[in-house]
Amino acid sequence: MSHIPRKNHFPDIDPVSLEHSTHTATHLKQLIGQQGSIPFQVWMHEALYAPGLGYYASGNTKLGNYQNQAITQGLPGDFTTAPELSPWFARTLSRQIKQVLQASGTTAILEFGAGTGKLAYDILSTLNNSDVKYFILELSADLKSRQQEKLAGFNGQVQWLDALPKHFEGCVIANEVLDAMPVNLFEWQEEGSLAEKHVSLNEAGEFTWLKQPANAAMVEKITTRMPVFPAYASEVNLQAEAWIHEMGNWLKKGVAILIDYGFPQKEYYHPQRSQGTLMCHLRHHTHDNPLIYPGIQDITAHVDFTAMADAALDSGLEVLGYTSQANFLLNCGLMDLLAALDPQDVARYAKEISPVQKLVSEAEMGELFKVLAIGFDIGEDLLGFTRADRRHTL
Ligand SMILES: C[S@@+](CC[C@H](N)C(=O)[O-])C[C@H]1O[C@@H](n2cnc3c(N)ncnc32)[C@H](O)[C@@H]1O
Repeated sequence: MSHIPRKNHFPDIDPVSLEHSTHTATHLKQLIGQQGSIPFQVWMHEALYAPGLGYYASGNTKLGNYQNQAITQGLPGDFTTAPELSPWFARTLSRQIKQVLQASGTTAILEFGAGTGKLAYDILSTLNNSDVKYFILELSADLKSRQQEKLAGFNGQVQWLDALPKHFEGCVIANEVLDAMPVNLFEWQEEGSLAEKHVSLNEAGEFTWLKQPANAAMVEKITTRMPVFPAYASEVNLQAEAWIHEMGNWLKKGVAILIDYGFPQKEYYHPQRSQGTLMCHLRHHTHDNPLIYPGIQDITAHVDFTAMADAALDSGLEVLGYTSQANFLLNCGLMDLLAALDPQDVARYAKEISPVQKLVSEAEMGELFKVLAIGFDIGEDLLGFTRADRRHTL
């Protein structure tokens, strides 16, 4: 996600959104009331996906696109993503997709969490091949209807799935989906035990943190990933690991390209990252308190790519490449594609190039975002990882 800070304090929230957040808070309070406390993972799931209430499951604007909007006007939504920033992201990614489809002799693409449908639209336009079938699995009914509107022109080619396929051959893509999966929060205690963070209610009926002993499975998982480190808090994305693991059952041929912000495990659980990576996005303002504004703010965590690669290996998939978004896009031929632009047409050139710089700049999305390819050998090296493949760092 990318943000253009507009204010350095909390943004004003309109009354309709505040009312929506109050309804979501009531739902969460009922859930906590029944159980005393709920693990943060359940909180995050409900705050993002509770039908009609959760951030992704209701009508929030969510994704902002400033292609047609002056930055000074302020962006709609809460965050923006690479496909929304620039069509050159999809055009470049399409080269990788095309190679996977051709080399594996398949014609299907499956996109998870397709947002506004912009990535699908730009990929289908770039490939310009009516033999390609495009499947979308989207949890958010609201985003699904935005996608259906956006992709109406490709009606015979696009199909929405309600559940994971039983058998899929082709190219899977997921941009910023792993980071939107609910995480479990943990904290090492002074005496060396591991606590899981729950959400409870204080005497005033406000949301508050509650530490509970972590279960044996979580203790085992965390102790293999980092040493005991009193007061260190972080998160583990068990749901994303299970999702990748499940892919080993249904992906039968081809490659999955997973793009997200994150790091290998050594960096993820680095002693200096002692408060984890959980972040909230509210009207392009980034902060770290997930217990406020439920239902109207996004909650995300960076991705532990070592855990994702291990889950893939464990489920019988190969890890085919891992690199930064900048390296991936450059390897896929971003510069060749941009050569089609006329630098003499200064205004258009600047308009096209400036968001592309954001995609590849080390200080913006180029380095923080990574690309992980998992799946089956297609008989040739994957285009996006021909240089600076960093699998050895996982
Ligand atoms: C941050 S948005 C990214 C949207 C889009 N991919 C983009 O790059 O603009 C996260 C998306 O992932 C979806 N999502 C989260 N978990 C999912 C899952 N298990 N299966 C499918 N979609 C999921 C959300 O509903 C949402 O559409």
